[in-house]
Amino acid sequence: MKQPRIELSALLSRLSANLVNLVEAAAPRRLMRFIVDPAVHEVIGQDRIEAVKTWIDTNIMLRRRQERSRTLPRDEDLKAYLRGHFCERPFRTLETTHNGLAFVCCPVWLPTPIGRLDADPTKLWTGPAAQQLRESIVDGSFRYCNHLNCAGISSRSLPRRDSKEARAILDEHHSGEALSFPRQVFLSHDKSCNLSCPSCRSRVYVADKARQAKLDALTETSILPLLREADEVLITGSGDPFGSNHFRNLIKRLNGGEFPRLKIHLHTNGQLWNERAWQDLRLQGRVGSAHISIDAARPDTYAFVRRNGSFERLLRNLAFVKTLRESGEIAELIFSMVVQARNFGEMLEFVQLGRDYAADMVSFNMIRQRDIFSRDEFKEAFIGAPTHEAYAEFLSVLQSPELSSPLVHMGNVLAYAPAGWTRPQAAAA
Ligand SMILES: C[S@@+](CC[C@H](N)C(=O)[O-])C[C@H]1O[C@@H](n2cnc3c(N)ncnc32)[C@H](O)[C@@H]1O
Ligand code: SF4
Ligand code: SF4
Repeated sequence: MKQPRIELSALLSRLSANLVNLVEAAAPRRLMRFIVDPAVHEVIGQDRIEAVKTWIDTNIMLRRRQERSRTLPRDEDLKAYLRGHFCERPFRTLETTHNGLAFVCCPVWLPTPIGRLDADPTKLWTGPAAQQLRESIVDGSFRYCNHLNCAGISSRSLPRRDSKEARAILDEHHSGEALSFPRQVFLSHDKSCNLSCPSCRSRVYVADKARQAKLDALTETSILPLLREADEVLITGSGDPFGSNHFRNLIKRLNGGEFPRLKIHLHTNGQLWNERAWQDLRLQGRVGSAHISIDAARPDTYAFVRRNGSFERLLRNLAFVKTLRESGEIAELIFSMVVQARNFGEMLEFVQLGRDYAADMVSFNMIRQRDIFSRDEFKEAFIGAPTHEAYAEFLSVLQSPELSSPLVHMGNVLAYAPAGWTRPQAAAA
């Protein structure tokens, strides 16, 4: 009997759907943790691991986040608030992610991508997916936004719909004129980094030559065209601007004279930011702000939380960065700490480190669950739980007047203090 012919594409999509079901059933978080285990790494190899992680992230985790955003309950007050307010982000901002996708806002706040970064830049920015997201702001539904994650919605700080800036964008949108390209671009499409902080990854990841060549090819075809009207570019939330060859090449390319008004905001661990890198990347006159993640105030803690990092080298580099801040070469300098059991006892010394090295802000945020942690590992690291054995000690550190200094930004740390708990005021000067 003659066998019916099955189209290859239909077969592949059926296989892919089955694979999604299978992985769903196996609990994707547990699977993710399994494949990032160093022993599994040895056997399967880094590139295959990254491919599997990207697949799970794009096909399962991202869809779950989208579903969650769409189905979060909204009461009448929230709906009325959204109808009367506006957000310019989807009209002005582009973010790239390590799985090769592009978004018009933070992917945790608005988890629906507008397409792949390697698509034609004009089609990507003005295509149906992007327009649909913008329409959801214009019609006041904000239906793709996760209102719990979004800081603008949850703190009710969006601009009013009748504000000058909102009306300017709405007029532009209704006029049917070609939409201008993004003004603010966040580049996070390469995870390459010189460190392997335990809060972030289980081992060092540096893109191999083939992957780097692909990323470098994107520079000319996608990234530079998308940056042509931008005022600011942030590098990077995924890896390190100095530890990634791709980002180093990109920065050099941006500083070749074609983008004179573009300001670069650096988000880095600071380990490789010395005078030589500054000269080599032609950064003079180009950097708007610098955010250096440090996470410790003592060498032994630093060696643990910033695995592969040297505190001595960090301090040498901070001395150089301080000269840049003091001369006005950099407009803003931020030091940050991801607060966890290992480092909360150094929060006050960390504020002093900020003062010593001319930081404009010392910022704290609690460690977040990531796929690399087992439940027990996270429980051990997360100092914000009242059941943690050092929670009382953590609260007593938060009592310190030192943390009420205008230099300090407490991020989400205070949200983990008990209800009704108040901070003491800063000591009188
Ligand atoms: C992934 S890094 C990329 C930029 C650069 N490599 C750095 O460390 O600043 C971006 C930020 O994520 C923070 N981070 C890493 N792991 C985290 C976690 N589990 N929870 C919260 N923040 C984390 C880092 O401290 C850093 O400030
Ligand atoms: S998630 Fe928040 S910031 Fe992003 S587009 Fe929606 S309202 Fe704007
Ligand atoms: S330096 Fe940044 S990107 Fe690199 S491992 Fe640490 S947190 Fe992750």
